[in-house]
Amino acid sequence: MSYIRSRAFEKDGYVVLDPYDQSADPKEWLDLEYVDWKSSGETRFAPLASASGDMDCNGFWNHTPPRTDKDGVWVEANVAKAPILKARAEEPGANIGRCRVIELQPNDYATALYNLHQDDNNRLNPDGTGWIVRGYFNLSDDKDSVLILREDRFDPDTEVRIALPAGAQLIIDTQRFWHAVWHQGTEPRYCLITSWESGPELDAYIEKYHGTSGYPTTPLDPAFVEKAQTEVRRRLAERAATLSAKGRASYPAYDDEDSDD
Ligand SMILES: [Fe+2]
Repeated sequence: MSYIRSRAFEKDGYVVLDPYDQSADPKEWLDLEYVDWKSSGETRFAPLASASGDMDCNGFWNHTPPRTDKDGVWVEANVAKAPILKARAEEPGANIGRCRVIELQPNDYATALYNLHQDDNNRLNPDGTGWIVRGYFNLSDDKDSVLILREDRFDPDTEVRIALPAGAQLIIDTQRFWHAVWHQGTEPRYCLITSWESGPELDAYIEKYHGTSGYPTTPLDPAFVEKAQTEVRRRLAERAATLSAKGRASYPAYDDEDSDD
């Protein structure tokens, strides 16, 4: 057997949907309760659905009993303040696992590259069921910010950068890609991230909103990229040395964390 996957992901592993008219909605994300949760970058999270319905950001595999990233329970205190965000997460009709708003502080390209990680969405996911992918709905208007995707963590030639204006709607196989956001700006970035189970419901949703891949990425100045790559290697070596001194493994960077963004 194998997992059920969307054909839309076969070619590139992500889709970009039609943009959403974010300006027509109230900024519900500013009313939510956020909890400190260290992910890739300086972040906080406002959980909308968690393993138990508690104000909790932990991976469902760390719950008792452990389970995969499905059947999230709504966090009443937050969904009461964000009915539109909840409705948007529910619109595909696919099974929802973790659902939350991420708040990310501005960073730079080298820091984003350092933060590249793969998600662990399919841990404990039973073979023969739907592969879990994640929706990214950008809420704040971050026209100069991009989601970085790389097939190969250290190979800039595999990099795709997708712009994140308000209303950008992406669905990503975040377990396949090394990913992180390069958030340029002065204010935090807010994004609704939802774990969905692949299947006919999600396929129909992607089709309805004209999901496409092959996003055009303009190459960056090679000297700028090389400088950032060098900085990342330096930081990773420094981190490895620190962890080694503490007797801990050093790779991958986010293996024991619930990375997001
Ligand atoms: Fe992630």
